[in-house]
Amino acid sequence: MLSEQFILELKARSDIEQIIGAYVNVKRRGRNLVGLCPFHSEKTPSFTVYPDSQSFYCFGCGAGGDVVTFVRRIENLDYIEAVKLLAQRAGIPMPEDGYDDSFARLKTRILEINRETARFYHAHLISPAGKKGLDYLRERGLSDKTIRRFGLGYAPEDWDAAIRHLREKGFRLEELAAAAVAVKSARGSYYDQFRGRVIFPIIDIRGNVVAFGGRLLDGRGPKYLNSPDTPVFKKSRNLFALNFAKSSKEPALILAEGYMDVVALHQAGFVNAVATLGTSLTTEQARMICQYAQEVVVAYDADGAGQKATNRAINLFGEIGGRVRVLKVHDAKDPDEFIKKFGAARFRLLLEGAGSAMDFAIGRLRQKYDLESADGKVAFLKEFARFMADIRNPIERDVYVTRTAEELRVSKEPLTAQIDYIIRQRAKNAEKKQAGDLTVFASDPKRGRDPQREAHLKEALAEERLIGILLKNPDYHRFILERIRPEDFLTDFNREIFQVICQRLEQNRPIELIALSEQLDERQMGKVAGILADAVSSKATQKETLDYIDAVLAGRRKKTPEELKQMGREELEEYVADLAAKKK
Ligand code: GTP
Ligand code: MN
Repeated sequence: MLSEQFILELKARSDIEQIIGAYVNVKRRGRNLVGLCPFHSEKTPSFTVYPDSQSFYCFGCGAGGDVVTFVRRIENLDYIEAVKLLAQRAGIPMPEDGYDDSFARLKTRILEINRETARFYHAHLISPAGKKGLDYLRERGLSDKTIRRFGLGYAPEDWDAAIRHLREKGFRLEELAAAAVAVKSARGSYYDQFRGRVIFPIIDIRGNVVAFGGRLLDGRGPKYLNSPDTPVFKKSRNLFALNFAKSSKEPALILAEGYMDVVALHQAGFVNAVATLGTSLTTEQARMICQYAQEVVVAYDADGAGQKATNRAINLFGEIGGRVRVLKVHDAKDPDEFIKKFGAARFRLLLEGAGSAMDFAIGRLRQKYDLESADGKVAFLKEFARFMADIRNPIERDVYVTRTAEELRVSKEPLTAQIDYIIRQRAKNAEKKQAGDLTVFASDPKRGRDPQREAHLKEALAEERLIGILLKNPDYHRFILERIRPEDFLTDFNREIFQVICQRLEQNRPIELIALSEQLDERQMGKVAGILADAVSSKATQKETLDYIDAVLAGRRKKTPEELKQMGREELEEYVADLAAKKK
């Protein structure tokens, strides 16, 4: 653990305004600064920096915290790495002892190994011995410039050529195995992970070589082999070529299926193309894409698998609120082949003509039914109407309805009437649901939905106010703790935060955000920053504090209908009497 003194000095020398200002274009608004959130895609700024509390909070996505949390998220670092980076920037030496940095050292070592390995494969590719690999890449249409830019390579066919090279450079076998460039066999000997494959280095946004993908030229084995997860690489959190695509000026990113698609796209001038790494798209990857672009164009393979994956991607982006268009390649199996056959200009047309996610969904829906038969048409239109009822914007809805009605040669009016009916019906149901609990909602972004919070909204809000009071008035801590304990909190999420703060106060340790971020994770820091951003809790009276405590305790006493059923008669009477007493 780092010393308090170090942490507070780091805080004093790491002004949040300056540090965030280096990454985000923020403008002063009153005491605070606002800008477009770097953690989700938005058009109107909801990202706020609070110099007073040295915190930031995004009202759109709920990201928030102190300067360390910010650096962690934007640079994709762990806590200690972020602290290190800030210390370096501020010119404060990191304390020598006090924490175990052997893991950090291993990571640095693995990155060195990866860089050297990439260099080795590339050198082999352009040497006479690598002719087979180079011929292959050239035959697939790649220029020397592209090959250099992507640092493509060729892994020798021997069992241990890379290992021998790396050992000469002073790396140990265990380190090579940790980097996953060497594999330990059952008999205890080591051999190269990649042999006789064309190599695609995977480079993260900071320019580190973090892993490799290798394509087989001939012979046996899977067509593509990827590095497994290592201390510096998580498949689900990386995208191929994002290191280039992130600085393209395009408002959209193109998401393709394969390495070759991406390399071909970049060569043809589409430098905003990325791909997943031999797995289907993950939520983390989708979030990253939305961070860097306002929109994503999905350009998967034309085959059934590609279309299924497209559907999946649309749903994923839908869940996190990203905008999607779908590009369809005609007369070619994938973007790579399309560009080779028809050229970049034709691909640009496809890109411009890429339809909305809704177009894609309607297309798939149409394939489900036999639209030549009357029955098929009716069944299709029924499902189509339900689909359309999901679209909020009436003008957008009208576009799809008009077009589909024309294409199916049916009249539009009854279809519109049907859709309006569904919308009214749904609104009615939603109203009924809402009437149940009309408690005031604090602005809580969709990110990190907490079912416990939703079930106990009133109490959760009171809990959050209490946390806020404690943070802004630490001297209230006795007063509060004499009346309520962490165990009394109804939501686990708030309880953990409350507990950490109380513990630190009891040990007379600082509760500055920068100190908390050592113990709280990113979601918790976001919540804490959100609470601080909520001005209501700034000056709390004792009376207010008591009200919040009561609200939590009352919620705790409230039983669910199931619990009431389980109670014995005496217990029930006691419970009712207790409730009645509190009412007065
Ligand atoms: P080429 O055949 O060289 O044009 O590659 P491609 O990119 O068109 O390949 P394909 O469409 O077959 O696969 C798309 C992507 O899926 C590849 O880029 C790989 O990331 C991944 N992939 C394909 N085959 C395998 C495999 O055998 N194992 C793993 N792990 N991933 C694969
Ligand atoms: Mn393909």
